[in-house]
Amino acid sequence: MSLLPNHPAVRRTVNACLALPLILLAGSAAASGDGAFKSGEDVYAKVCGHCHEGQVGPQIKGRQLPPAYISAIVRNGFRAMPAFPASFIDDNALQQVGEYLAKSPAPAAKP
Ligand code: HEC
Repeated sequence: MSLLPNHPAVRRTVNACLALPLILLAGSAAASGDGAFKSGEDVYAKVCGHCHEGQVGPQIKGRQLPPAYISAIVRNGFRAMPAFPASFIDDNALQQVGEYLAKSPAPAAKP
C-alpha cells in the first residue's frame, strides 16, 4: 500500500479492485440458485451496496438519479467503477435497480 500515492482517487480504485472479486464470488453463488435477483432492492443489496454503502463509491440513494443514467453507468463502468455485463445483471434487474434508486430516500446519516 505504501508504494501507492496516498490520493483519494487511487485509494478508491484500489478499494474497488479489492472489492470486486468478492462481489463476483457472491454473484456466482446467487446465480447458482434461480439465477435472478428478486427485486431492484435485492440487486442493490447484493451488488451495489458493497461499494455504495461503504467507503468505495459515492452515495447513490436519495439523489433521484435517472434510471437511464444508472443503467449507462452500470453497463459501461465509470472511472473507478467496473462495468457489469448482462450476464451478471440482466436487463430486467438493471431496470429494477434503476427504478429502486430513483425512488429511494437518502439513508440516515452515519454516526
Ligand atoms: C466495486 C465497487 C462498485 C460496485 C460493486 C458498484 N459501484 Fe457504482 N461506483 C463505484 C465507484 C468507485 C464510483 C465512483 C467512480 C468515480 O467517480 O471514479 C461509482 C459511481 C457510480 C455512479 C455515479 C454516481 C454519481 O455520483 O454520478 C452510479 C450511478 C453508480 N455507481 C451505480 C451503481 C449501481 C447501480 C451499482 C450496482 C448495480 C454499482 N454502482 C455497483 C463503485 C462501485
